[in-house]
Amino acid sequence: MTKILGIEGIPEAARLIADGQVVAFPTETVYGLGGDAFSVSAINKIYQAKGRPSDNPLIVHISKVSDVYRVSDNVPPMFFKLADIFMPGPLTMVVPKGKSVPYEITAGLESVAVRMPSHPIAARIIEESGTLIAAPSANASKHISPTSAKHVFDDLNGKIPLIIDGGDCEVGIESTVLSLVTEIPTILRPGAVTEEMLAEVIGKVKNFSGKVIASAPAPGMKYRHYAPTSPAILSESTKNTKEKYDKISSEGKSVVVLTTADKLNEYKGMNCINMGVNGAEVAHNIYSALHRGEAYDIIIVDSLKGDGIDKSVMNRIFKATAE
Ligand code: TXA
Ligand code: MG
Repeated sequence: MTKILGIEGIPEAARLIADGQVVAFPTETVYGLGGDAFSVSAINKIYQAKGRPSDNPLIVHISKVSDVYRVSDNVPPMFFKLADIFMPGPLTMVVPKGKSVPYEITAGLESVAVRMPSHPIAARIIEESGTLIAAPSANASKHISPTSAKHVFDDLNGKIPLIIDGGDCEVGIESTVLSLVTEIPTILRPGAVTEEMLAEVIGKVKNFSGKVIASAPAPGMKYRHYAPTSPAILSESTKNTKEKYDKISSEGKSVVVLTTADKLNEYKGMNCINMGVNGAEVAHNIYSALHRGEAYDIIIVDSLKGDGIDKSVMNRIFKATAE
């Protein structure tokens, strides 16, 4: 049985991590499953608890910008330019890997991903552990990322000793991953720090297309992440949603629509989960809406049409509805 504690559990969480154990804790994006970044056995425990393929590298979490020197001997100047503005926060940067970093973290790559979470619980656990923390999202591999302690518990109960409960995650989708080891900095995973925000600071950024592609520079992007246990299908319009809904209902299956506030009127009498009024609200709610949708046979997800964070949310929706 996995223990759940509030902030009073922070010292225990830090101690467990220093001892080579793994602990789940909140960040501003999603819950992470953390272990000592310099301990191969701790890293293996992370892969094991999640059932994650070991060719998908982990992010190293730091609590101050200068920690980057502990994982890289060759930090690109652009890292500090971006860190000034976006650290702490939902931006992960990929930099050349230093010798101290085990290849188990980077899945054999010569680069390492680094992020400084802004969530005070995450920051304290990193600091008090005395080490840096490798942490993927704290879900079972290929399931939806967790944005509450309950989501973590449902996936990992019995597999890890402790979850720190910090309530719901504010951002709600994973950090933007930006590679600084490519000629032009390249977004490998879109997130709350958008391409427009990055381009404003560094001039040029290669953006991420938003499609599920077969082989991407971020090894993790080829996996079908964020998938709920009930089939989820994408809808392009309210008309399309209503047609699909009627067809599925007439087959005797239960169905729910994940949608935005403006469409609720049109869907009167249908099962709906309201994800909010704009892209930021939908980002905050998308994973818990998908978790709730698992109570139905089929989930229909409405599209967002805007730029900026809408595109980052659509990247997750494409993945959840990929099959
Ligand atoms: O918001 C987040 O980033 C959360 C919280 C817990 O910090 N963490 C997270 O970790 O989403 P994870 O393991 O689920 O996703 C890490 C992503 C994967 O797509 C992985 O392929 C990419 O980062 N990544 C890690 N190291 C990399 C590297 N050296 N080069 C390219 N991509 C890398
Ligand atoms: Mg993940």
